[in-house]
Amino acid sequence: MTVIAHISDLHVSNNAFDDEVYLEVVNQVNALEPDMVIVTGDITDHGYYSEFHKATEYLSMINYPLFAVPGNHDARNVGYETFEELIGERSWVLTKDDNLTVVGLDSSGPDVDKGHIGRPQQLWMENELDKSLNNSNFSIVAMHHHVIPVPKTGRERNVLSDAGDILQSLINHDVNMVICGHKHVPHLWRMENTLFINAGSVSSIKLRGNDKNSYNTYHISDNHIDVILNHINGEKIFLGKFNRDQL
Ligand SMILES: [Fe+2]
Ligand SMILES: [Fe+2]
Repeated sequence: MTVIAHISDLHVSNNAFDDEVYLEVVNQVNALEPDMVIVTGDITDHGYYSEFHKATEYLSMINYPLFAVPGNHDARNVGYETFEELIGERSWVLTKDDNLTVVGLDSSGPDVDKGHIGRPQQLWMENELDKSLNNSNFSIVAMHHHVIPVPKTGRERNVLSDAGDILQSLINHDVNMVICGHKHVPHLWRMENTLFINAGSVSSIKLRGNDKNSYNTYHISDNHIDVILNHINGEKIFLGKFNRDQL
């Protein structure tokens, strides 16, 4: 069994970040004792060095291995360089127990909101996913921007500009889960053999309508994947149990 906590869109800043909510998330995630925590971007609100510095303190409160990709807000004000200095590589791949592969992609660009993966990164991802397929690994791709539009998020402006190419590549490689953030609205799409799962915003005040801060948890066993949406108030919403053989 592998347990993953997926948090996104912290927006650490003076104006958009709720530290009380975040500290409650830290308690909940540490109590879960996950194998890993994946952060899908917008760690900061403006990409400022001071925000990243503060963010490293907040992220270090989580006592489990943590892997992050940048979001569009992190790529503002030369934040892409600060991300590398204070957080880590912007694209990465990890394997666990020789049966799980996670590929982290950088879908951000300097001072633009829209997402883009680009051909070089796409080819690198395909190479990593080929290896994952050869090993029959469970595969996860993490990136900030969504590949498929998310309902109840207003006018679509920020889906990946190369969404069609990336979607085809993900589907062709039978990726099990694609996890994203950005829209601050949790959602799950299933297409072919792949789950496309969006996380809400874990700790920013930028919420739509009556939405609440939330994060996702994934419980991956030999047979099943359980997907759970966790509201910060303790409410848990079961988004689905999926049979791995049918994914
Ligand atoms: Fe965001
Ligand atoms: Fe974003």
